[in-house]
Amino acid sequence: MRPRPQPAQEFLPVDVTTLVHDPILGTRRLHWPDEAACAAWATDLATRPGLHDAFLELHGPLGAGKTTFVRHLLRALGITGRIKSPSYAVLEPHQVGDLVISHFDFYRFADPREWADAGFRDLFSAPGLKLAEWPEKAAGQLPLPDLRLWLHPLDDESRQIEVQAFTPRGLALIA
Ligand SMILES: Nc1ncnc2c1ncn2[C@@H]1O[C@H](COP(=O)(O)OP(=O)(O)OP(=O)(O)O)[C@@H](O)[C@H]1O
Ligand SMILES: [Mg+2]
Repeated sequence: MRPRPQPAQEFLPVDVTTLVHDPILGTRRLHWPDEAACAAWATDLATRPGLHDAFLELHGPLGAGKTTFVRHLLRALGITGRIKSPSYAVLEPHQVGDLVISHFDFYRFADPREWADAGFRDLFSAPGLKLAEWPEKAAGQLPLPDLRLWLHPLDDESRQIEVQAFTPRGLALIA
């Protein structure tokens, strides 16, 4: 018998092997025909009480709509003014009332030692909403997310979305 071809892991841009073993408690599949559909889902999610202490990972290629989704979610939560992408700063903090929101983009995150130095460990152990783009780049540092959103852009500019829940809080968020 011929040997089975091995997965070409060396061609993957990031180590995704750590992502596949966490037990998924529930899954939702969505289709966003346009950005308005993204906004509508984000606006609904913003009304869920469990969101205020949740951690959401956002996966998808460049331009998939991760920041766009976060902007709609933050607007729905009451953030006014400009919502910058954290692609350069790694973290953009927000606050509305008592709610602390940490919006991360780990695309440029290279050195795991930066994790403690930047105070991210403290942020993740404190109350508040945490949103992370490119979490793969900080794999090994991040706690288990409540929700993992996979954004797949389709040829017609719409988005196929898979939402995976890893905690009871995450499950409640997509119920
Ligand atoms: N259905 C949709 N949902 C979300 N965004 C959409 C949709 N259709 C079109 N867009 C557009 O796609 C673009 C997504 O850009 P965005 O910066 O949000 O991507 P990103 O995933 O954060 O990329 P990066 O990995 O560079 O951070 C925006 O211009 C947005 O208007
Ligand atoms: Mg982005």
